[in-house]
Parts: sequence; C-alpha cells; structure tokens
Amino acid sequence: MKLENLKTESEIKEEIERVDNLNELNKIFKKYLGKKGEIAQILRSIKDLSEKDRKEQGRKANDLKNQINFLIKEKTKKLQITGEGMQNEWFDFTIPGKKPVQGHLHPLTLTKRKFQEIFQEMGFSIVEGTEIENEWYNFDALNIPKNHPARDLWDTFWIKSKATKEIKAKSEKLLLRTHTSPIQVRYMEKNNPPLRIIVPGRIFRHEATDASHEINFYQLEGLMLGKDVSVANFKAIIKEFLSRFFEKEIKIRLRPSYFPFTEPSFEIDMSCLNCKGKGCSVCQQTGWLELMGAGMVHPNVLKAAGIKPAGNNAGSQGFAFGIGIDRLAMMKYKIEDVRLFYSGDLRFLEQF
Ligand code: DAH
Repeated sequence: MKLENLKTESEIKEEIERVDNLNELNKIFKKYLGKKGEIAQILRSIKDLSEKDRKEQGRKANDLKNQINFLIKEKTKKLQITGEGMQNEWFDFTIPGKKPVQGHLHPLTLTKRKFQEIFQEMGFSIVEGTEIENEWYNFDALNIPKNHPARDLWDTFWIKSKATKEIKAKSEKLLLRTHTSPIQVRYMEKNNPPLRIIVPGRIFRHEATDASHEINFYQLEGLMLGKDVSVANFKAIIKEFLSRFFEKEIKIRLRPSYFPFTEPSFEIDMSCLNCKGKGCSVCQQTGWLELMGAGMVHPNVLKAAGIKPAGNNAGSQGFAFGIGIDRLAMMKYKIEDVRLFYSGDLRFLEQF
C-alpha cells in the first residue's frame, strides 16, 4: 500500500461523517488504523523509499493517522451522546449500579483516632516525634544513664553510623525509638508548664515475636504538668478515657512499679471486660487486666528538659503514662495475636 493510493483526508472525513453507528465506525477504525490497517501498511513500506521520500511520506502518513484518530474519537463521542450509535446494542437500565469498593481504616488507625478524640476533648494537644531518635532523648534524658541496668528493659535497635568519639560522648548515637517517652523531653524543652500533651507513635523493640510481642508497635504517651497536678488527676483522666474508649464503666487500680523516668511509678490494671471483675479465663481468675505504665515525672527528667521541679519556688510537677495502642485494640476487638495487625491479611482487615 502506498500513500498516493490512500483516499484523501477529506474523503476519509466524509466516510466517517456518513457512519451512523458505533459498529460501522469501528470497522473504519480497523480499516485505517488497525494493526494491519492501511496506514500501518504504508508506514511499513516506507523503509523501501529513498531517504528524501521517506521523510516526507513518513510525516504525511503520521499526520493523516493523527487526523483520522481525532475524527473517529469525535464521532464516537457524538454517537454516544446522541445515543444514535446504540441502535444495535441493548441496555438494561434497570440493573442496579455496581458499588465502588470503598477503602476502610486499619484497626490500629481507628484505635489511635479514637484515643486522640477522647484526649483532645479533655484538653490534650497531639504532638509527634520522629521514629529515629538519639540516645540522649531515648535514654539519658529520661534518667536512664549509660551502663544503667534499666536500659535492658528496652531491647534496642541501634543504627550503625560512623559515630565519632565526640558524638558518642554527647549521647547522639542513633537508634529506633523504643518508646514515645523521648517526646516528653523534646516537648518540655520548648514549652513551659502548664501543659497537656499526648504523643501517638510507632516504636521498635529488638525482641522475638509471639502472639503478644512484635518488633514494632504503637504507643500513646501522655504528659500533664502544672503547679499541683497529682496522681488523683491522673486516675480521674485515665478512668474517663477508658470508660469512653470501651463504652462502659471501667474500674482501675494502681500497683507500685518501677520506671526510671517516674517516681513514684505504677502499673495500672482495669477491671476485666469479660467478667466485670468476678474472675474468668481471660483475666486468669484475678478480675483484673494489666494495662499500662505511668507515674509522676521524675525531677531528673524535668531538669534534663530545663524545667524547675516542684518544691522549688514556682516549680512544676505532673504525671506521664504510656499506653499500648495495639494492646487496647486487641482488648476492644478481642484479637488474640498482635501479629495480625501487621500481616496485611485481608481476611482479618476486612472485618473492620
Ligand atoms: N515508656 C514506657 C515503656 O515503653 C511506658 C511508660 C511508662 C511511659 C511509664 C510513661 C510512664 O510515660 O510514666 O515501657
């Protein structure tokens, strides 16, 4: 097939204009623009021409191709809009529409958002930090000096870096944060009490995984400081938070515990959701479920962040706590294996 044997552009245009249905139009498309269509044949034969002709004919053929393409598209639209081209096709307008698949939120996102909503209503602001942290904020400033045995409470992923002696001395070695507590210090450095914040975030632990342990999970840190913020304030806020989250009245109790960054420190238990405190297999017959750690912020932590502890003139005091977002999501939705959150298994995720 040669270019001079092809119909002229105006002839082809007329041909397209005459068509009155999509089937016919499709035939024209194939005739000119199909894989074995006339234009394709022309383009294929061009290689046998002299260099000068090749250029010129190539350009003409391509222009024509684009023009035909344009005309056919326009005509298709016209036929579709007027419905003219549909004579041979039959539509059942009564068939119900297909619902587009809608995405939904991950259970941990749902839980985190609910936590945020409840604490925001109680006047807490949301603060975030980075997942890569340095040794100073993750440990030293939280009253966990180098070589202190308490560092072993957090199995740490250290980040390999070419740390100079200087950096090591300043505790600026990098790691994946093992908790959200470092943000307490970062925030207190820049903000004066009174303050109320929560810090949701992902944290990392270098440990073996099982149904209740993952190498990364989510925590929500809380911090409230003021002139006379007390344990009683803490109890009221946590009780309110839990009752709103679980949508039922929850009882709590405090047990003495140890965290380097709080003094006194305590562990909080809540009444078993399953048996309401009577004792069952979920709570190992105790009536209580272990929930979270908390305490009154240690004066050393306040000092590290440049805040005057209470006892001095116009000093501050307050509480801090760390809640496992995964743990509470597991309790609320009755999930038995934390690893499911990170499995990407749609059979699990689609239930939320
Ligand atoms: N950072 C602790 C952990 O990851 C949790 C925690 C306990 C945070 C007591 C606190 C606190 O702020 O006061 O195990």
